[in-house]
Amino acid sequence: MPKLMNSKQVLVTGGAGFLGSHLCDALIADGVDVICLDNFFTGNRHNVTHLLDSPSFELMRHDVCFPLYVEVDEIYNLACPASPIHYQHDPVQTTKTSVHGAINMLGLAKRVRARIFQASTSEVYGDPDVHPQREDYWGKVNPIGPRACYDEGKRCAETLFFDYYRQHRLLIKVARIFNTYGPRMHPNDGRVVSNFIRQALHGEPVTIYGSGEQSRSFCYVSDLIDGFMRLMKTRDDFIGPVNMGNPNEFTMLELAEKVIALTGSKSRLIREPAPIDDPRQRQPDITLARKELGWEPKVQLEEGLTRTIEYFDQILTRGNNPD
Ligand SMILES: NC(=O)c1ccc[n+]([C@@H]2O[C@H](COP(=O)([O-])OP(=O)(O)OC[C@H]3O[C@@H](n4cnc5c(N)ncnc54)[C@H](O)[C@@H]3O)[C@@H](O)[C@H]2O)c1
Repeated sequence: MPKLMNSKQVLVTGGAGFLGSHLCDALIADGVDVICLDNFFTGNRHNVTHLLDSPSFELMRHDVCFPLYVEVDEIYNLACPASPIHYQHDPVQTTKTSVHGAINMLGLAKRVRARIFQASTSEVYGDPDVHPQREDYWGKVNPIGPRACYDEGKRCAETLFFDYYRQHRLLIKVARIFNTYGPRMHPNDGRVVSNFIRQALHGEPVTIYGSGEQSRSFCYVSDLIDGFMRLMKTRDDFIGPVNMGNPNEFTMLELAEKVIALTGSKSRLIREPAPIDDPRQRQPDITLARKELGWEPKVQLEEGLTRTIEYFDQILTRGNNPD
């Protein structure tokens, strides 16, 4: 079918989620038309309500496990529950979302000759033996553990993307995303930043799992979205995978202390055993992103935490959705 639309048409799957909604904002600001697709499993209509009046925005309820036909120029495939609490709630569905979702979106991209971006994850590295992780590290993943539905689902999705590239010459872009945080994170997703902020704002004890010496790097959402859009605009033969995250590392103890200080909370720390297969250390090597995308994170932890705390304060203590 010939396209009658003048502006670029972009499909964002998982568009009502944390990252997806920020991506929709940035794409609309960039002057393109956005179809935001979501089944609202972990995403929320509130995350995109402010876009509903825009003539460039369309919200569609759909599950990526089922085929879809829409005329688009680009697809960002983000649909997938991302936090352990959410993806372990229905692990079979999580694998289906990653794998069937990838097959359906790649099939769509092939039919309409769209560029397609995959939101992959640092979890493809599992509990890594090398540190920091570069894209050529193959990872150390337990294929039968409780995290496997997510880790192996995302690994299989990467395989599908690269096979569609080799077999069908599809224009693919694969990003491996490291821990990202910011406004519109789900307050009960069990991820460390949201947990700490929620507990600190409520004056509850802040839970440290394991020794608290395990480290993570945290990327602020606006930096990450800038990276996504830069990646989509790269030359055809740059396909990734490319790490995206903030290489600055903090231990869980350091993060907890920062959150307590920034919220002015009187919360104390309590300890619980570390979850199964929890990686001890995770840090992106972003040399490739620096070279190919001219990208690196700009927002430092304290600034990002302050903005995130403001958001959580609005929704948790004042019952407002700031959007
Ligand atoms: N936030 C991070 O730190 C991070 C890190 C690595 C990778 N990622 C990846 O980025 C993507 C977005 O993550 P997020 O943090 O915004 O999580 P999120 O849970 O807020 O967003 C995921 C969205 O996908 C939707 N969804 C889930 N299953 C679906 C299905 N079958 N069909 C249609 N929609 C479906 C959810 O309703 C939600 O809106 C995910 O693919 C995730 O794996 C995120």
